[in-house]
Amino acid sequence: MTDNMDRRATGDPDLSVEIGRIKLPNPVITCSGTFSHGEEHQPFYDISVLGAVTTKSYSLKPKKGNPGPRICETASGVLNSIGLQNDGIDIFLTSHLAWMQEKDARVILSIFGRDLEEFKKVALKVLDIKSEILALELNLSCPNIEQGGKAFCAMPEEVEKVVDGVASLLDIPVIAKLSPNHDNIVQSVQSAKRGGAEAVSIINTVIGMAVDIETERPMLGNITGGLSGPAIKPIALAKVFALSQENILPIIGMGGVFDHIDVLEFMMVGASVVGIGTANLIDYDAGIKIITGLKNYLKSKNIDSIKSFIGRLKI
Ligand SMILES: Cc1cc2nc3c(=O)[nH]c(=O)nc-3n(C[C@H](O)[C@H](O)[C@H](O)COP(=O)(O)O)c2cc1C
Repeated sequence: MTDNMDRRATGDPDLSVEIGRIKLPNPVITCSGTFSHGEEHQPFYDISVLGAVTTKSYSLKPKKGNPGPRICETASGVLNSIGLQNDGIDIFLTSHLAWMQEKDARVILSIFGRDLEEFKKVALKVLDIKSEILALELNLSCPNIEQGGKAFCAMPEEVEKVVDGVASLLDIPVIAKLSPNHDNIVQSVQSAKRGGAEAVSIINTVIGMAVDIETERPMLGNITGGLSGPAIKPIALAKVFALSQENILPIIGMGGVFDHIDVLEFMMVGASVVGIGTANLIDYDAGIKIITGLKNYLKSKNIDSIKSFIGRLKI
């Protein structure tokens, strides 16, 4: 039976979505760094049900990350300063990728670099296995060593250089992941488009800080960190909405998504795909619960296709 015939037989709504060349069976993906590759979650549900799994961000060489403490709770959010700790792209390619394939996960590989050259070197490593991944997501919130450590996405011209540098090496979809911490996000998305990006992921964490009055120290070893979770959902919705009004590139929305209602809110303001981040740290089966919630909601409202939610907001 085809997917359509399957759905008609069960009365299930069509959850499939597309962003450029990327086709997904449903709009629910995991956010980079919050799901590893899915090893901890697979005992709770079959991770192949997800629209896709975005890996943690990989650099050319292993990276130790920031000094601890690296994570702390705040009112309705989590503050982290992991510092992009990872094993290096070679370990992903020689071990984690095979595990993900064995589990039939659709893979979005997140990468980063200290400069354009490192981004290109990591991308070149992927050349031989490019048919095994759906897309490369570029984490452009990381520091650009050539620009005094300022984030790549603080400078739209750097966004274009990196996206173009990677996209022209590999014929696979490239997603630019941007931060809400700069006021030039529209220009950065335009630059990402000029560089050849297929879509943008909005938003990475919001810079924040927490203090312990007893120790008189910051809660994080790195002093500041990135805020995620429900506290940032309104910020993320506003960014996605503003960008969807500009209609530059398809949007993967994320920030504080905990249930299927949150997913539909992001789709209404213009996201085609939605990421679950911090929820994975709290609710190990958030992915399957959210997908089931979407299916049941659409069924209860007699809505055939989830695509009809994209940009449906009345203003
Ligand atoms: C513990 C933790 C680690 C993260 N690591 C990465 C990372 O390696 N690369 C990246 O692009 N974003 C990373 N993020 C940001 C998330 O992918 C996501 O953009 C952000 O947390 C907003 O979504 P949320 O509020 O649902 O968590 C991380 C977030 C958390 C909480």
